[in-house]
Amino acid sequence: MIKKVAILANGGDVSGFNAVIRAIVKTAEKNNVECYGIIEGYRGLVNNEYIKLDTANTASGILPKGGSIIGSSTNSNVFHYKVEENGKVEYKDLSDKCVQNIKENGFDCIFTLGGDGTQKSARDLSLKGINVIGVPKTIDNDVACTDITFGYNTAVSVATEALDRLHTTGETHHRIMVLEVMGRYAGWIALESAIAGGADIALIPEIPYNIESAVEKIKHRISQGKRFSVVVVAEGAMPKGGEISVEGTRDNGKGVDNTKLGGAGASVAKELENLTGLEARSTTLGYMQRGGTPTAFDRVLSTKYGAKAMELAIEGKFGVLAVLKNGVLDSVSLEEVVGDNKIVGAVSGNTKESNIRKVTMEHDLVKTARNIGICLGD
Ligand code: F6P
Repeated sequence: MIKKVAILANGGDVSGFNAVIRAIVKTAEKNNVECYGIIEGYRGLVNNEYIKLDTANTASGILPKGGSIIGSSTNSNVFHYKVEENGKVEYKDLSDKCVQNIKENGFDCIFTLGGDGTQKSARDLSLKGINVIGVPKTIDNDVACTDITFGYNTAVSVATEALDRLHTTGETHHRIMVLEVMGRYAGWIALESAIAGGADIALIPEIPYNIESAVEKIKHRISQGKRFSVVVVAEGAMPKGGEISVEGTRDNGKGVDNTKLGGAGASVAKELENLTGLEARSTTLGYMQRGGTPTAFDRVLSTKYGAKAMELAIEGKFGVLAVLKNGVLDSVSLEEVVGDNKIVGAVSGNTKESNIRKVTMEHDLVKTARNIGICLGD
């Protein structure tokens, strides 16, 4: 019988965090379970910082709110936690401290709202005897074993609106309009928004591109009297035989992927301008994709995930991730989600060791894009 639970939101924020929190709290209250929110993800677990969540006060009116009412942390792998002492930076395994805090607070279960890195750490904590239940979050839509993550639909909607706007300005000035979208090493946002926004070309990490094929598509459009084109470029897209575009390094500590992607859109725009003779402009959509109110779809998905996660806790089903399998709510073991990345405390996040879900060539989105003539750069 669970009596007291805590929610932890971790990693880059998405629209829908608060909707999940609200659904967990509401379902908890209905079952006489007390609910707490850990402040700023795994960082709050280390520092033992949390607040009481209830629908009367702290978790009231939050459904449409962007961000996370309990914060989130992008730099907190508790197995490699950054500690600064006397001006010296060290990385320590503070997982035992987290276990101790959870036990002393009497939390019967921790809900980990996050992407693959967060769920990797959750699995590692579950191996230390903690009851955890994951909820799949990320705009990138790349968490293994689930059809969709919360936050993704909102990101696609924002990108689609941007494409609509780029269309009209591109058409007016006879330009190639390039939109760089997020997604890290997966092309879901780029592909789906390209279909929704009527783009002519979509370049995704899963299909290293040949710029000539994009040039051909644009020239074909010119031959039809269409003197503008709209191109979506995933931040992780790369040319055939070339490298991913890296803008720099982020300081998210050890044990996470610190690559800061960026520049893919600008470099595609430059090449297309040189090779077609049309003017090209590049826009990077950036954090617009993560902020603000969730779409109706994401509000419902987040609510379903939150309620399901609490239901799993009541059933005593721990060490799992709440998922959507062929459109139906379900759960899978965190072991399956973590996949090949089995080493406790090992690098988590989007690295080659991690088990992320990428776009496959058999996916309906790829087939649909090809059927309607979107050039995928191959
Ligand atoms: O994983 C979500 C995401 O928004 C990616 O799409 C993007 O590459 C990355 O996070 C940006 O991370 P940061 O918040 O560290 O700049």
